[in-house]
Parts: sequence; C-alpha cells; structure tokens
Amino acid sequence: MKGIHSIFLACFLASAFACFLASAFDPSPLQDFCVAINDPNNGVFVSGKFCKDPKLAVADDFFFSGLNKPGNTSNRVGSNVTTVNVGQIPGLNTLGISLVRIDYAPNGGQNPPHTHPRGTEILVVVQGTLYVGFVTSNPENRLITKILYPGDVFVFPIGLIHFQYNVGNTAAVAFAGLSSQNAGVITIANAVFGSNPRINPDVLTKAFQLDKNLVTHLQSLF
Ligand SMILES: *[C@@H]1O[C@H](CO)[C@@H](O)[C@H](O)[C@H]1NC(C)=O
Ligand SMILES: *[C@@H]1O[C@H](CO)[C@@H](O)[C@H](O)[C@H]1NC(C)=O
Repeated sequence: MKGIHSIFLACFLASAFACFLASAFDPSPLQDFCVAINDPNNGVFVSGKFCKDPKLAVADDFFFSGLNKPGNTSNRVGSNVTTVNVGQIPGLNTLGISLVRIDYAPNGGQNPPHTHPRGTEILVVVQGTLYVGFVTSNPENRLITKILYPGDVFVFPIGLIHFQYNVGNTAAVAFAGLSSQNAGVITIANAVFGSNPRINPDVLTKAFQLDKNLVTHLQSLF
C-alpha cells in the first residue's frame, strides 16, 4: 500500500515532465513461507520479529559469546555448525547479516551438500585443510572447487548447493558470514530422503534413477 502511495506521489511531483516508475527489489523472505491472513489476531510473527523501542536497547542485544568453543563433531557427518544469527543476537534484526563457526572432524568430517535459500556465504579457514565447492544451476551444473588452507577465503553464492570436506588429518575450523539475519539451511540429503512425511519412494526412484530398495534404505537412514 505504502509503495503504491509513493508511486502516486512520485507521479504527482513529476507530472510537469513525465511519470517515472521506479522498480524496487522485493525484500527476501525471512522464513520458508508466510501465508497471508486477514485477521492479525490469528497471526504470528516469525523471523521478522517485532522491534524493541530503540531507547531500551542495551549492549547485550548486540552480543554473543562462545564462538571460541568448538562444536562436538561426533556425529554421522563429522561436523558441527554453531550459528550466530538473529536467534542468538536480537540486534541483528533487519540488518541482513549473520555468522557461523564450523568445526570438522579430522579425515573426512564434512558439512554435507546444502544450500542457504536467503544468503550468500563468505568463509574463512582458520585451521586445517578443506576441499570446498559449489555447483552452478541448470543446465550447466558446473562444479567449482578449491582446496583451502588457513587464511584462505571462499564464497558460496546465494542459493547454490555447496559443501566443505576436511581432507586433512587434523580437526579443521572455519568461520563464515552470511548475507541474511537468518539465511536458512536446506541439507540436500535430509530434505530429499529425510522429509517428514516421506516423499513417495517411486518419485525418488525415478528422479535419482535408483533401485527402489536403495531409496527406501536411504529413507530409513535419515
Ligand atoms: C554441536 O556441538 C554442540 C556443542 O558441543 C552440541 O551440543 C550439539 O549437539 C552438536 N550438534 C551436532 C549436530 O552434533
Ligand atoms: C560429543 O558427542 C558424543 C556423542 O553424543 C559424546 O559421546 C561425547 O561425550 C561428546 N564430547 C564432548 C566433548 O562433549
């Protein structure tokens, strides 16, 4: 509504010359979806949050502590992501940025193929050796990879499937900034084989050109 008013105002002010229509970019959603409702009493505010009165803001609204501590990598994939987004730092609301620490177990710990629907990622390795990469969209699906050492920085463009894999025999550590207060994560294997409820195995059998028994086996793993 406000946008429409602004356009009319711009037309009015510019009427002596011409009516210019400015095009604006939609703000990216901060959640997977937000079904419109007419009665706000039945609404919930998701990642967008309400704002605190600025006069009441305190240092702790902009603070997080503990990113010096490694995450526990004793799990199936051998990695652990410690997230510092608007959920941990309320002052990040509307600022379009967040941070993670990622720990990788020695010899093959990995942050498995995943995508951030709302953010580009810039990652710096501080310890260890990582094989990283991302795949471009259809139809090229080009794989772009690099081996990273401490001090190396790599970018994963918004929405593209990417991964990091510890090819060294020591633990690895990386930090990454993301261009969203809540970039979201879709881990491909979990989403495809571990959805709740399960995707009909016939769909996955054909989509991945797999034996149906293998599909149901994969579904049982996630
Ligand atoms: C990540 O590490 C934290 C801290 O050690 C632990 O509480 C959490 O369960 C770990 N997450 C996974 C997925 O292993
Ligand atoms: C890491 O997680 C594993 C599995 O949950 C657990 O056995 C182990 O004690 C944890 N290690 C630390 C340091 O918390």
